[in-house]
Amino acid sequence: MKKTIIYLLASFILCSVSRASEPLIANIYARDITFLNGQWNYIVDPFDNGLYDNKMQRLEKGFFENRKPRDVSERIEYNFDTSPLLKVPSDWNTQEEKLFFYEGTIWYKKDFTYTRGKNKVPHIYFGAVNYEAQVYVNGKYVGEHKGGYTPFNFNISDFVNEGRNFIVLRTNNARHKDNVPTSNMDWWNFGGITRDVLLVDLPAVFVQDYSIQLDKEKKGIIKGWVKLNQSLSGQEITVEIPELSKVFKGLTDDNGFVSFEMKAQPTYWSSKDPKLYDVDIAQNGETVKDKIGFRTIKTEGKKILLNDEEVFLKGICLHEEAAYRNGRAWSKDEVRTLLMWVKELGCNFVRLTHYPHNEYMVRLAEEMGIMIWSEIPVYWTISWDNPETYQNAEKQLDEMIYRDKNRSAIIVWSIANETPHGESRDKFLKKLSDFARSKDDTRLISMAMEVSKVSDNTNLVQDNMSEYVDIISFNQYLGWYNGTPEDCRTRKWEIPYDKPIIVSEFGGDALQGYHGESNVRWTEEYQEELYKATLEMLNKIDGLAGISPWVLKDFYSPRRQLPGIQDWFNRKGIVSDQGIKKKAFFVLQDWFKTK
Ligand code: GCU
Repeated sequence: MKKTIIYLLASFILCSVSRASEPLIANIYARDITFLNGQWNYIVDPFDNGLYDNKMQRLEKGFFENRKPRDVSERIEYNFDTSPLLKVPSDWNTQEEKLFFYEGTIWYKKDFTYTRGKNKVPHIYFGAVNYEAQVYVNGKYVGEHKGGYTPFNFNISDFVNEGRNFIVLRTNNARHKDNVPTSNMDWWNFGGITRDVLLVDLPAVFVQDYSIQLDKEKKGIIKGWVKLNQSLSGQEITVEIPELSKVFKGLTDDNGFVSFEMKAQPTYWSSKDPKLYDVDIAQNGETVKDKIGFRTIKTEGKKILLNDEEVFLKGICLHEEAAYRNGRAWSKDEVRTLLMWVKELGCNFVRLTHYPHNEYMVRLAEEMGIMIWSEIPVYWTISWDNPETYQNAEKQLDEMIYRDKNRSAIIVWSIANETPHGESRDKFLKKLSDFARSKDDTRLISMAMEVSKVSDNTNLVQDNMSEYVDIISFNQYLGWYNGTPEDCRTRKWEIPYDKPIIVSEFGGDALQGYHGESNVRWTEEYQEELYKATLEMLNKIDGLAGISPWVLKDFYSPRRQLPGIQDWFNRKGIVSDQGIKKKAFFVLQDWFKTK
């Protein structure tokens, strides 16, 4: 009896002690991986029956142990193996009509077999789960993660058997005021396992992380560092760039860390020539292969300089929402469709809103020569005074930079979107911008600011955060949320900063196929006229260094209900939810040709 009590207590403690995810395994797709994508059983659990009893006491076993009834007399009120199936990755909202609006807990379960490789240690990796996740392997609690748009992984060697295993994941996408994003936003709260799930086999000692890029000050120098997962000194690390005939060999220090510099004259990565080099990082017989672009990005007064040449950012905003299906995009094919439209538009830049997108999006944009603005969901009315909210935001910023710091296409880290001014907000965002620079001082920092009006005919961009960002970016909707497209023709702008300017959003809704006079709201002609008038206005802004109109494709939002027009879609896309280009698409395409 005593032993059983101790066991139960131990399991309970283990279960209730939350284990945060471990340091991310960099460049996951270059590792020895097995995809666990496919059909997973799922149980909808609106009252979290699987985690708590009727007195809200945490259950020791709960749903995560796949117990089969021992005999007909045993009362078990759930069974994963006879439960329905969901595709993973994919949000649940667009898979099942009854889950379209669902916000709450869903339990997933997947059987898998594992053959322990020689000197290999198994890890489990999730590209993203929205919003929180608790992971169990063979009925034992492994750990958890919060945040719907960044990856996480766990070492599961203590939990995995040779042969048959099963994984259970609890996720809950309920919105909370103190979360990041907060409980109000203008996009669909797609829940579930929304990106790849990978079983990763690694040696006990492996290359955990690395950074390799051009020195932003010293021309002709490539610098970098490599970090092992263990603090082991004297381990030989080789970094090779074959095409440049460059090889570095060095030994790790007591922290398992080694840094290096190599003289090199690489062809710079740019939109016109998105040159990527094979880079091989080897340690103890294991080689991690990456493709890395070398470029510099900086500002000089009101100019943005890519490789010391002025560049104008011809961009567009896009949500991570698949064409046609309109659920959370996650696959290479879905990403390729979106980026082909971006390319067809004539863009050299995308603003990936309002959260870090999947790794395929970032890597494919890089291959296509499309520069990237990558953003964390510090969106609208965040709980600025809550320390946990700040920690959550900083962790998501850290995870975004950690995963993508070797992606040359990313030129801007964005720390916020349309956040109301205030002392607490300024303090929160300054801390975030300082943190971003401490993690990566080679990229530009920005955020989408708001606009105020100083007189009948003059708009002002004024924000205390202007001194902490490298680019002054702002969203403006003259002609949609205020005024008319005609007002754009005379409106003046005051932007009192000697920094580059990006108009990070403008636009208006149009139902594709709805035609009428250009002063009739919701028609394609209204949107077309709005684009023409806005682009004419923006051309007059001194120091305009780029634009990213809102938005590539119509997307789901619970805030957009107008029957027969919106039907739960935000219709500011210049491409419809069914992939049909609206008239405004061609206005923007023609304007980019003049840039
Ligand atoms: C805001 C916000 C977007 C939103 C858009 C709109 O600027 O940044 O997320 O969808 O405006 O109102 O359509």
